[in-house]
Amino acid sequence: MKVIGSMAAMQRQSAIWMRSGEVVGFVPTMGALHEGHLTLIRRARAECRCVVVSIYVNPTQFGPKEDLARYPRPRHRDLALCRAAGVDLVFAPANLYLPDHSTFVEENHFSQGRCGTSRPGHFRGVATVVLKLFNLVHPTRAYFGQKDAQQVDVIRRIVRDLNVPVKLIAVPTVRDSDGLALSSRNRYLSPEERTIAVKFARLLQEATKQKANQAAWLRRQLKRLAGLRLDYVEIAGGRLCVAVWVGKTRLIDNERLPSSG
Ligand code: PAF
Repeated sequence: MKVIGSMAAMQRQSAIWMRSGEVVGFVPTMGALHEGHLTLIRRARAECRCVVVSIYVNPTQFGPKEDLARYPRPRHRDLALCRAAGVDLVFAPANLYLPDHSTFVEENHFSQGRCGTSRPGHFRGVATVVLKLFNLVHPTRAYFGQKDAQQVDVIRRIVRDLNVPVKLIAVPTVRDSDGLALSSRNRYLSPEERTIAVKFARLLQEATKQKANQAAWLRRQLKRLAGLRLDYVEIAGGRLCVAVWVGKTRLIDNERLPSSG
């Protein structure tokens, strides 16, 4: 497995792959890999000749009061997991922005509302880094987790609107045996907080079984749950989408609603 840290070296490698017409599968990550990421990597491994994983904690998608500094960076473990999963190349740059970087990508439909409201500037940072990564890696196929449903919609729209030659694949959310959606941020939770987070995940599942007014039902239940602060509950794209705070940790999740009629 190759590990590349410079943008120039990454572009040299992707130019070689492009010339020989390889199918390149790409899994962009911020590291702290878990079974959710590994599911994306396995899918890429099954479908593509070359598999690239990027590991980069992108500062432009974090707000000034968010967890950029404390975001977990278990680099050795991440590399070992990639190696074991049969990844061909890990792109792990120390930095992707020049000091006078002044260009950003803005998607103005799907990035509105929900996490776009709670985390101003977040999707601009995601959009910019993902387009940069696409231009460096030149993937044929790129894999994203459906847990970040709004992110998937934003990136899909950018790929369409800016004619980016990549096929996006959204992979279903992976859950722990207790139902909590896997997230690198779960490791912030104390045992007591984890118990609350699991109740939150269960209520989301129960909400999808309600015959009507699922969002209102879930909002009511979550407001009653001690130790949890509700950010939003909204239906978007046929999915019940929710964000909450458990202590200092922000968790998001979503589940498809059965189509009515
Ligand atoms: O989903 C993530 O981990 C990040 O938002 C991404 C897509 C790697 C961009 O930094």
